[in-house]
Amino acid sequence: MSQQSFYDAVGGEETFSRIVERFYDQVRTDDILGPMYPQDDWDGARDRLRMFLAQYWGGPTDYSEQRGHPRLRLRHAHFPIGVTAAQRWLQLMSVAIAEVDETTLRAEQREAMWEHMQRVADMLINSNPDPHDLT
Ligand code: HEM
Repeated sequence: MSQQSFYDAVGGEETFSRIVERFYDQVRTDDILGPMYPQDDWDGARDRLRMFLAQYWGGPTDYSEQRGHPRLRLRHAHFPIGVTAAQRWLQLMSVAIAEVDETTLRAEQREAMWEHMQRVADMLINSNPDPHDLT
């Protein structure tokens, strides 16, 4: 018997779609993040993030099949990401994750997902001084 993946344990496709959908609902109108995304391909952006997260957590491997190796630092290199943008990304994602109920996403699973998001967001900071420093 094969062990259940984290992806399946937290509700699979439905959970990941819900998180990414809620995340992009907010990104679209966000003053810092909104303008960075392709305005004519919101569905594509949503699908790429969903496929990446699903694959990372042991779900289907559509991301690699369609996009190859993630190389996230390289793929974010042409977006100027400072601390402010990274924090905003995490803030919107934390709202999206918080909306998943506790029986679907238990505390330790929520924590694991959150730690991964924080680690990747930190890794993607590529701009100093911060292009979005509002002070
Ligand atoms: C730190 C703040 C971040 C900013 C400002 C940012 C911004 C962007 C933008 C503008 C895109 C292009 C949208 C598209 O056409 O796909 C993108 C793509 C993507 N981002 Fe981020 N992102 C951030 C953090 C993250 C994090 C934390 C993750 C993963 C946990 C992530 C995963 C991805 C993925 C998988 C793609 C699609 C890559 C591809 O296959 O082309 N991003 N991001």
